[in-house]
Amino acid sequence: MLDNRLLACATLVSGKGIAVDVGTDHGYLPCYLVQNGICEKAVAADVNTAPLMSAVKNIEKCGLADKVDTVLSDGLTGLSAQGVSDVIIAGMGGELIADIISRGKSFYDAQFILQPMTKPEYLRKWLWDNGFEIALEKACKDEFYYTVMLVHFTGKNTSYNEEMLYVGKMKNETDEEKGWLLKQAEKLSKKGEGMLRSQDNSDCASYYLSLSQYIKNYAKGEL
Ligand SMILES: C[S@@+](CC[C@H](N)C(=O)[O-])C[C@H]1O[C@@H](n2cnc3c(N)ncnc32)[C@H](O)[C@@H]1O
Repeated sequence: MLDNRLLACATLVSGKGIAVDVGTDHGYLPCYLVQNGICEKAVAADVNTAPLMSAVKNIEKCGLADKVDTVLSDGLTGLSAQGVSDVIIAGMGGELIADIISRGKSFYDAQFILQPMTKPEYLRKWLWDNGFEIALEKACKDEFYYTVMLVHFTGKNTSYNEEMLYVGKMKNETDEEKGWLLKQAEKLSKKGEGMLRSQDNSDCASYYLSLSQYIKNYAKGEL
């Protein structure tokens, strides 16, 4: 069974064609997608041999070797885009995810399912500056709160303000959404308070503190 984070990624897969899991590690996600009939074929890709071997073992254990291909690849560079409807990039930093997408132009007809572990604000900025639309964001919780983004290339940039970079398309309705928002607010207020304590950069400190307050108010439905 997948954890809530990978399950949230799986629920966004269209299943219209092949699903490619970049940085698959154990290969649990592509196995789940095929076993549960979400897609017929999947590709489990990783840049490192040890995780890819672990995926190979799990795929064989599940009897899915004819439906889940394994490929040693840096991002999308070693893969074919033919028939691919979904690209999932989960469990990596926002900067690495943006870098992988920037080098995978032949996949821009597919939808992207992105789960950044860090710097989601960097990833949103990169996406909106480079012709991608964030259709929605979904919050989930395991040990921590996570966001999962559903993203399409439209070729049109999106304008944004600073608040949008930190909130993205997250709604403020479910416990997971509110929990994720409040966690972002907490991180920003800690950053601002640290700056205030070191008496360094007081302009920056008040910027982070007011951003944090904005997100708290949004989480509580007070905007
Ligand atoms: C923390 S694991 C995440 C595994 C899985 N996607 C998940 O979310 O549970 C990150 C994986 O990404 C792989 N990785 C890192 N950089 C990569 C790149 N440029 N291309 C493909 N895989 C990469 C690592 O080898 C590692 O197996």
